[in-house]
Amino acid sequence: MLDIALPKGRLGEKVYSMFAQAGFDCPGILDDSRKLIFTNEEKGVSYFWVKPSDVPVYVERGAADIGVAGKDIIDEYRSDVYEMLDLRTGVCRMCVAAMKGFRDNADMTLRVATKFPEIAASYYGSLGREIDIIRLNGSIELAPVLGMSDVIVDIVETGTTLRENGLEVTETIMPISARLIANKASFEFKKAEILSVISGLRKTVEEKA
Ligand code: PRP
Repeated sequence: MLDIALPKGRLGEKVYSMFAQAGFDCPGILDDSRKLIFTNEEKGVSYFWVKPSDVPVYVERGAADIGVAGKDIIDEYRSDVYEMLDLRTGVCRMCVAAMKGFRDNADMTLRVATKFPEIAASYYGSLGREIDIIRLNGSIELAPVLGMSDVIVDIVETGTTLRENGLEVTETIMPISARLIANKASFEFKKAEILSVISGLRKTVEEKA
């Protein structure tokens, strides 16, 4: 049996449909219920719905053999897992954004509001720029609007949230998409099963392209 951690929510549903198309469906999984584990004995798969940012934890600790997480989450938590396949869904980008017309003063410490302190620290570290990180858990766009930060480091998908709050992208840090990750020990012990799922998913990804 292959244990698979899927990110709860819209991305997870899209990703599950890719697993199903690849031949690893699981009846009832998309029903509106509070159940968290769904098994299809015949296909040899068991899925769990977990909070998106927790997927790498389940996979790193071996509670799940494989899972799907955004590149943002994988990089932020520096999880010790194998990154196996770009699923080319959940596509967005990690950006720096500021109020329209903001001018950076390089002599001042830059106040950066973000849910991604590691990514922000590593980006500004590479530029040699001194920053003060303000760690938030959501609605990051509010911080510069209220004057609490100079910029934000956040995910931009359609750009609507920025636009509707008078902000604009000033720098793009990296592209983001959902990735299939694998537990390192599982990849030794369940290699054939994992490779079979990957090969099915790869076909699905290529057909969609
Ligand atoms: C994410 C991100 C932005 C928004 C970007 O927030 O933090 O706020 O989506 O999407 P857009 O470019 O299509 O507008 P999320 O919905 O995860 O909520 P959050 O405010 O709790 O972070």
